[in-house]
Amino acid sequence: MSKEVKILVVADQDSVKEMLTEFLAGYEPVRYTTSSEVKKEIDRIGPDVVLLVQPEEGAGVELVQYIQSELPEGIVIFLTEKQDFVLLRDVVRAGAVEYIVMPDELNLLTDRLEKISELSQIQQRKKGADASGKAFVRGRGKVYSFYSGKGGSGCTQLATGFAQSLKLESTASVLLIDLNLQYGGVETFLSFDSNRTLGDLIPVMNEMNEFHIRNVAQREAHSKLEVLVSPRDAEIAENMSEAFVTRLIRASRRSYDFVIIDLPSHMNELVYAALSEADMIYYVMNLDTPSVQIYRLVEDLFRRLRIDTEGRLEVVVNQVGRDNELVVSDLKGLFNAPITAEIRRDHAGVQAAVNQGRPLQKEANEKKLTPAAKDIRKWVQSKLS
Ligand SMILES: Nc1ncnc2c1ncn2[C@@H]1O[C@H](COP(=O)(O)OP(=O)(O)OP(=O)(O)O)[C@@H](O)[C@H]1O
Ligand SMILES: [Mg+2]
Repeated sequence: MSKEVKILVVADQDSVKEMLTEFLAGYEPVRYTTSSEVKKEIDRIGPDVVLLVQPEEGAGVELVQYIQSELPEGIVIFLTEKQDFVLLRDVVRAGAVEYIVMPDELNLLTDRLEKISELSQIQQRKKGADASGKAFVRGRGKVYSFYSGKGGSGCTQLATGFAQSLKLESTASVLLIDLNLQYGGVETFLSFDSNRTLGDLIPVMNEMNEFHIRNVAQREAHSKLEVLVSPRDAEIAENMSEAFVTRLIRASRRSYDFVIIDLPSHMNELVYAALSEADMIYYVMNLDTPSVQIYRLVEDLFRRLRIDTEGRLEVVVNQVGRDNELVVSDLKGLFNAPITAEIRRDHAGVQAAVNQGRPLQKEANEKKLTPAAKDIRKWVQSKLS
């Protein structure tokens, strides 16, 4: 275990404290406190990992929440002496990364601490170098919303390709959400076999957590990318509110490193919610005059709706080819948002994939990629390095 990982143990009972002291003999620095003192201590100590033993009077969930709010980058591991599913669900929801039953599962703790140590070394190496990089911290996943004011620009194709490639090329957990509630879209580019959809989350809207989401999400066969598929049903769509979308995104952000959202072109309160929650909006644009004109209208609409785009809006140019009306350099100077990627037009590659019901990229470091898949991967890698 590396010396850089500071551990704080919060335990009220002496017997438990002794057991953990023995268990943690090889680690340092380790500090100890009690549940009544932790609020005073946490800020001063600034631990990397908090081992929180269920307090006797049972305020465990609130303490997890408190520690997470004071220490957003800290990792909370919850320890208890008995298995309790409801408690497990609640502490995980509050932000704990692990629920360990003592003494039976203490070997799991060793494993966890090793992983955290590795991760923290990586983080330290990268510190300051990049803000959006691979330092995955639970509870603060990044939300990327894909949007275009002009239908058919390739929004769904790129959101799907980006999510798939991100899952394959990194160790991050990735969730793709299809918010084209009426007609869907992602199932054109990825195949799924069950009939679970995002609509199945409506009944649990108020207590939605990681378990609900994982339970409803479908998995893409090659990458194991998790996908919340659209209900493709106008009636179900009508039962989804802005509050539902906001909760869904927040619960997803707590449980995944990246949440990729595909949006329809029209603006409504659900799309608004997804744009507002996003860390980054990727606007998909083609190289023609109507696309530029619609982009201008959208910029204006964002301004009127008070969607803050400062540092949060980037343009992806799609369908780049020889016979475009405009070239990428024409776009520069027409708007302020940076152009983050250029994806080539690739009829043959895209058609073949769709016809065979397979994704554009199937494995990490895949050698034989078609042009669009290559460009998408290059873009993903630029976001990871
Ligand atoms: N780079 C590309 N090369 C070739 N074909 C592409 C490319 N990008 C998208 N397409 C194709 O263009 C069509 C529209 O793409 P897509 O469905 O992703 O657009 P959209 O913006 O999501 O449209 P909608 O308004 O229907 O939601 C699809 O048939 C897709 O396969
Ligand atoms: Mg679409």
